[in-house]
Amino acid sequence: MDIFNSINSINDIDWASFWQKQVQHTYKTQNSGFWDDWARKIKPKAKHSRYVEMLLPLIHIDPEDTVMDVGTGTGALTIPLAKIALKVYGVDLSTEALKVVMAQAEEENLNNITPIQGDWIKLEPKDLPRCDVAIASRSIPGGSDIKRSIWLMNEVALKSCHITWRVRGNDPLDRQISEIMNIDIDYSPEHAILYNVIEGMGIHPDVRTFTLKREKEFSSLEDAFFQIVRSRDIDTPTSKKVMELLDEKLEKRDGYLYQKKDTTWVLFSWNK
Ligand SMILES: C[S@@+](CC[C@H](N)C(=O)[O-])C[C@H]1O[C@@H](n2cnc3c(N)ncnc32)[C@H](O)[C@@H]1O
Repeated sequence: MDIFNSINSINDIDWASFWQKQVQHTYKTQNSGFWDDWARKIKPKAKHSRYVEMLLPLIHIDPEDTVMDVGTGTGALTIPLAKIALKVYGVDLSTEALKVVMAQAEEENLNNITPIQGDWIKLEPKDLPRCDVAIASRSIPGGSDIKRSIWLMNEVALKSCHITWRVRGNDPLDRQISEIMNIDIDYSPEHAILYNVIEGMGIHPDVRTFTLKREKEFSSLEDAFFQIVRSRDIDTPTSKKVMELLDEKLEKRDGYLYQKKDTTWVLFSWNK
């Protein structure tokens, strides 16, 4: 296809629509019910994260800074942020996720987190406090309206904004699962589209990457299935085949299952 006949400039491309098309597999099923369910299941893993250990040194936060954490999840980042910043506002669609965050905050005697339950896409600047730093880690909302999501972060932040997104990998197990499910996964780089969405808004972000070499641990085959296949529609016979594949391919030790998997993340950052 000779797309250059119809496009004269990179600015002719509607990157936000392209993003929506590209990431719909991720966002399609992910309503608040999905994330409530996810928060209940993921809860025991909220305490330690190598991802957070690698991310935090890349983001400059002063002790007197206030932070807007967009899409807290179960607090893997929110809790460490609360330990270094003056105050953290944690926004999430899921009441269950926020409950986990606040329970953890109480356990650690942290009283500087304010939970805000809501859909980031629908919140207005007037509903939100201004913060020094806005972060959307593994969570930028906006399958339907990515530009609004980024715009709102930019509106509330006084000093800097940070967004992370996964660099889509080429994992052989993922490919085999896609084959069983008869889905044609497009492995083109979503982060490159996100970069262009941000650039198209007149923002020129710093782009950094970091790679986690890790082994994913699952408490059971069902847990592995839930975490690996979570964002895709699947019928019963197909899920049985996927379970069989996971049973064959995942390493088993001491009652747990393991998947060796490197994950690269891209961090987009900009100053206000
Ligand atoms: C994968 S978790 C990321 C958690 C956390 N930021 C981290 O890095 O560990 C994504 C979170 O974003 C939340 N989320 C998704 N869409 C949202 C939206 N439109 N508004 C607010 N939160 C949303 C989900 O409820 C979920 O808790």
